[in-house]
Amino acid sequence: MTATFPELWAEIAPVGRADSGGYLRYALTEPELALRDWFRAQAASRDLDVTEDGNGNLFAWWGEPWGEGTVLTGSHFDSVPHGGAYDGPLGIVSSFLAVDRLRDAGYTPGRPLGIAAFVEEEGGRFGLPCLGSRLLTGAVDPAKAAALTDRDGISFGEALGATPAGARLDLVGKVSALVELHIEQGRAMTVPVGVASAIWPHGRWRFDFTGRADHAGTTLMGDRQDPMLTFAYTVLAANKEARLSGAHATMARVLVEPNATNAIPALVRGWLDARAAEESTLDGVVDAIVKRARERAGRDGTEVGVTAESVTANVAFDTALAERIAKLLGGAPILPTGAGHDAGVFSAHVPTAMLFVRNPTGVSHSPAEHASDEDCAAGIEALSTVLEALS
Ligand code: GLV
Ligand code: MN
Ligand code: MN
Repeated sequence: MTATFPELWAEIAPVGRADSGGYLRYALTEPELALRDWFRAQAASRDLDVTEDGNGNLFAWWGEPWGEGTVLTGSHFDSVPHGGAYDGPLGIVSSFLAVDRLRDAGYTPGRPLGIAAFVEEEGGRFGLPCLGSRLLTGAVDPAKAAALTDRDGISFGEALGATPAGARLDLVGKVSALVELHIEQGRAMTVPVGVASAIWPHGRWRFDFTGRADHAGTTLMGDRQDPMLTFAYTVLAANKEARLSGAHATMARVLVEPNATNAIPALVRGWLDARAAEESTLDGVVDAIVKRARERAGRDGTEVGVTAESVTANVAFDTALAERIAKLLGGAPILPTGAGHDAGVFSAHVPTAMLFVRNPTGVSHSPAEHASDEDCAAGIEALSTVLEALS
């Protein structure tokens, strides 16, 4: 008797859950390590071998690890701060249950089937999203990845216990297709399962606004060089520029030094997350925000430095594969997304597709993220159909 979705889901539900109801499952921290142990146990209970790739990514194998024609599925365990339960883990849990379904039906794949748990997909700990898949596919230098630090100054290399192995294109080259199942993160779906067409180009920019620390009580208003003002103006400018161009721009993470109620700050560091359907729109909106931040800095007597921390180009998933899958699933809708995924990183190397499970409110990266058990079961059925067809 194989497990049902609610049974398996309940096993991981408490892991890393905060009082907010959201999750603190940062890569390679205790809750995420517990989920990796759970992954190994699930694999063992199904007689699936587990391999690691030296980059922090885990794989469970039905068939020969990285054998010719490998079909990959899976997703990630890590969350954004106080993120939802489904973003990532749904893809991994669904993959194990899809394997159960195929086995229950007496199916044996003709190609190896691998379930991946990619590390640091959100960039919630070390700042660079899709770090594990970027390393494996050679999209980031291993020394650079090793040196990325978390908010406590611990580096990715330290957390991993080694310098990451980096690109393994010999392994990636064996993959005939990758399919990642994921909760949908917008309000676009009216049926339980959809197929991805594209991922908007997107990126993260760090803005360092610097001014002069001074006394809040004694410094005349006209004498100040207050970087908080430049930051506040930039937040509003980002929102306005995005609205004007149909892009998305968000400044949601901020660090203030010295962060005292009665001191004008010396530094305000704010991160911009910007996304758009077209690369030219994204470039235009970011340029406009930077220009307005600099102009404002001139008026405030402050300075602004801008660093692109990660920029991800447009992803167009394999159209023929998406259409084939949509047809297999009885005419599932094909839709783009503004969210980044490991599947997007892989799409530069292998035919790649994504299945989306309906999210009734569209809310994501929040404790309120939700998908119904029925829709998750429909997603598992769809994933098993697709894995059967591809393997
Ligand atoms: C990943 O979830 C992202 O921020 O797009
Ligand atoms: Mn996410
Ligand atoms: Mn995700």
